[in-house]
Amino acid sequence: MSNQNFLTTQELFVTQDASDDALLSLIAPTQEDTILFTLADHVRRQHYGTDVFLRGLIEFTNICKNNCYYCGIRCGNKHITRYRMTEPEILACCEEGYTLGFRTFVLQGGEDPENTDDVMCRIVSAIRARFPDCAITLSIGERSRESYLRLFRAGANRYLLRHETADPIHYARLHPHSMSLENRKRCLYDLKEIGYQVGSGFMVGSPFQTPVHLLADLRFLQRLQPDMIGIGPFLSQKDTPFADYPNGSLALTLRMLAILRLMFPDALIPATTALGTVHPEGRELGLKAGANVVMPNLSPMRLRKHYTLYDHKISTGEESAQSRALLEQRIIAAGYRAITDIGDVRRS
Ligand code: 5AD
Repeated sequence: MSNQNFLTTQELFVTQDASDDALLSLIAPTQEDTILFTLADHVRRQHYGTDVFLRGLIEFTNICKNNCYYCGIRCGNKHITRYRMTEPEILACCEEGYTLGFRTFVLQGGEDPENTDDVMCRIVSAIRARFPDCAITLSIGERSRESYLRLFRAGANRYLLRHETADPIHYARLHPHSMSLENRKRCLYDLKEIGYQVGSGFMVGSPFQTPVHLLADLRFLQRLQPDMIGIGPFLSQKDTPFADYPNGSLALTLRMLAILRLMFPDALIPATTALGTVHPEGRELGLKAGANVVMPNLSPMRLRKHYTLYDHKISTGEESAQSRALLEQRIIAAGYRAITDIGDVRRS
C-alpha cells in the first residue's frame, strides 16, 4: 500500500470529522487491525518522529477516600497496607529520577485527605525550586478550582485525571453515588482554563462497557481536546466488587490507541502499565499502535507492591526507572527512541 493510500484511508475514516458509524466500525473487531496500526504509526511519526517520552512516576500515597468499584486502593479495601510518602521521600525519588535522566515527575496518588492544599503546595514548591527545568505532573483526583489554581501557582504544569467513561449511566455503574461524571468534567475544564496541560482517558473493557460507550469517550475527548490521553485495559482486582469481571482485552486497547492517535495526531499517549501487565510486550505493541510516552515507576521499591490498582501489576522488573537502560533497549528494539527532554506537547 502506498503512502498516498494511507493518507486517503485516514482522511476517509479517522479524522475529527469521522461519523459515528465509521468510528463504531473501527472499534468493532475486524481483520484490519494491522492497517489501522500502520496508519497510526505513520501519523505518529509525522508529528513526533520516533520519539518516546519518559516520565518518572511516583505513586506517593495509596490512601483514598473514594470507593470506586474497579480500583484496588478504594477506601473499602481492608486487605491493603496503606502508605503515604513524606516530602523528603518524594524529593529523594525526584533526585534519583533526575540523575537517571527524567525531566518530568508525575506525582500520582489516591484522594488522600491528609494531602491538603497546604501540604501539596509545599511539596510542589519544593520540587519546583529544586528542579526548575522539569515538568511537574499531578494526578491526585478531583479537587476544587481554587485548589487546582493554588497548585498551578506553586509550580505544577500538568494534570492527569481520566474521565474513566463519558457515559453518565455507565459512570454510575463504576462509581458510588458520591461521585459524578459531571464533577469529573468540571475538574477537567477548570484545569484546562487555569493553564495546565491536561490529560484524560478511560479504561477499556470495564464492566458493562459497550462500543457505544467507547464512542462517547472519543466524542468527549474531542470536546475537551486534552494534551495527554491515557487508556489501559480494565484489570480485575480481587478485593473489589469487580473481582470476578473479565479483564479488558489487549486487542481492543491497541485498537483504541490507534484510533486515538489518528483522531488526535499531536496528543501525548502513554503505553500504560496496565497494557504492560496484560501482555509481556504490551507496551511495545502500544508504541507500535500509536503511543509515544512511557511512564516508568520511580517509587521506592518497598512501596510498589502496595499500589495495587489491579492484580498482577508489574512492579519490580524492567518497568522500573532503575532499569532505564533495559527499557531504552526495548524501545529501540520496537523501532523508537527514548527522549530525556521535558517532552511538552507539540501542537501542529
Ligand atoms: N484496572 C485498570 N485500570 C485501573 N485504574 C484503576 N483501577 C483500575 C483497574 N482495576 C486506572 C484508572 C485510574 C488510573 C490511575 O488507574 O483509570 O484513573
